[in-house]
Amino acid sequence: MKKSLVEDTQKRLSGKQIAPTILTIFGATGDLSADYLLPALLRMEEHGMLPKSFRLVCVGRKELNAKSYFDFVLKKSTVLKKLPTKVKQSFLKRLTYYQGNFDDVASFTGLAKLLSDHDQPNKHVCYNRLYYFATSPQYFSGIAHILKNSGLLMSCKAHERKVRVLVEKPFGFNYKSASALNKLLKKFFEEEQIYRIDHYLGKETVQNLMVVRFANGIFEPLWNNKNIDHVEISVLENDTTAKRAEYYDQTGAIKDFVQNHILQMLSLITMNEPYNLTTEDIRNEKLKILKALQLPAGELRQSVIKGQYAGYKKEVKADSQTETFAALKVFINTPRWQGVPFYLRTGKALHKKVAEVTVHFKEPARCIFRNCTANVLTFRIQPDESVHLQINNKVPGFGVDIHQGDYGFGYKQAFMTELPGAYERLLLDFIEGDQRLFIRSDEIESSWKFIDSITENPEFKNLPVFSYKQKSAGPKEADEFIKKDLREWRTK
Ligand code: BG6
Repeated sequence: MKKSLVEDTQKRLSGKQIAPTILTIFGATGDLSADYLLPALLRMEEHGMLPKSFRLVCVGRKELNAKSYFDFVLKKSTVLKKLPTKVKQSFLKRLTYYQGNFDDVASFTGLAKLLSDHDQPNKHVCYNRLYYFATSPQYFSGIAHILKNSGLLMSCKAHERKVRVLVEKPFGFNYKSASALNKLLKKFFEEEQIYRIDHYLGKETVQNLMVVRFANGIFEPLWNNKNIDHVEISVLENDTTAKRAEYYDQTGAIKDFVQNHILQMLSLITMNEPYNLTTEDIRNEKLKILKALQLPAGELRQSVIKGQYAGYKKEVKADSQTETFAALKVFINTPRWQGVPFYLRTGKALHKKVAEVTVHFKEPARCIFRNCTANVLTFRIQPDESVHLQINNKVPGFGVDIHQGDYGFGYKQAFMTELPGAYERLLLDFIEGDQRLFIRSDEIESSWKFIDSITENPEFKNLPVFSYKQKSAGPKEADEFIKKDLREWRTK
């Protein structure tokens, strides 16, 4: 089946009246903008995903203009440099650069004028205003105040306009700071205007977790503690933290990765079927899981392993105890999941980059053959995006030996097209006003509450930080941790 992204996008946009929109990105010269947002927007331009009237204002401290800013972005990526000139030219036409300093509110007075110059009230054209908080989190509060006090939230007399804000991660550093940030945003915006991003939700394969579960009648009857032995979510990364070492050292693997990406995938793989595919129905079901998360009773060291790659201290500071690797065992306290352990693992500087969610079914209660093995359903999130089911088969011959066969579905083979990037998908949803792949305030707060139960437990600081070699599979203690339960990590 060959289906192009362009075709798919055109189908999605066809017949839709997308109101004229200006997206303003705060923090436009930072790494996130240059490495992810601008490339995503350029690819959207290439694939015809941007509405004709779409305009982009990039705000940064550096003294630049649209052209020099665009060159700065292009310079960072060989892929973007190769885009057809026509694509680059039409993108440049949409782009304005605005120089502003978040510590100086006065430097934003010109921005309101720049934005309202696009409106044509006599023709009933009032641009929707979308604001992307892509700075470091210390500026989030300042930006919210700037939006309010510099006239950037002003309504348009002739016609209603939508105002939305998208807030990047980290959304807080613990429950207290996340709920304070929610409170602050809610002073200025309604929940329907706030888009809290987790870019994993924009990945095709993460969206597929819900589809495989609820579009196939065979899984739901099995999806419980009677049939599932355990679930593993492993996200291994091969890069070190080098570029972001300073930020990472204050965060660590649990807050940087488990709190958001892993807990979101965990809630999608375990939640009850939402009544409908509406934003609130989906969020309500995810929330029930996040609220029901629990660590096993007993000492923290029985459920949390911390690791740090050799050489990390040299990159940051000599006495850093920050974990660059974490393995956790958690439970979900609901009737469906009583007693099923969920093993979560992530780390930097490992031997490869791979992310998988694996559901391990129980072995048959009685096996009449010699060696029945448990069925395993693997969702390969990235790379080689695919879904695999391991099933026992007979080995050809006169005996009845068993072989585990792999029934697989690979995106590349099935669709022969590149997958839409996570940021492209989420930016399009933001422009269209679709919040289904964004996180509600209570979801964020519940996931932080659970993370606090680990990181703010006084035992956490005293847990040993096991060293592991770069390009290895992590500390051996993480293998022993799961072996104690007579299991092993499936993602190698
Ligand atoms: C970010 C984390 O949210 O996700 C990074 O802060 C991590 O530490 C990144 O490397 C991974 O994203 P992806 O899409 O490359 O898996």
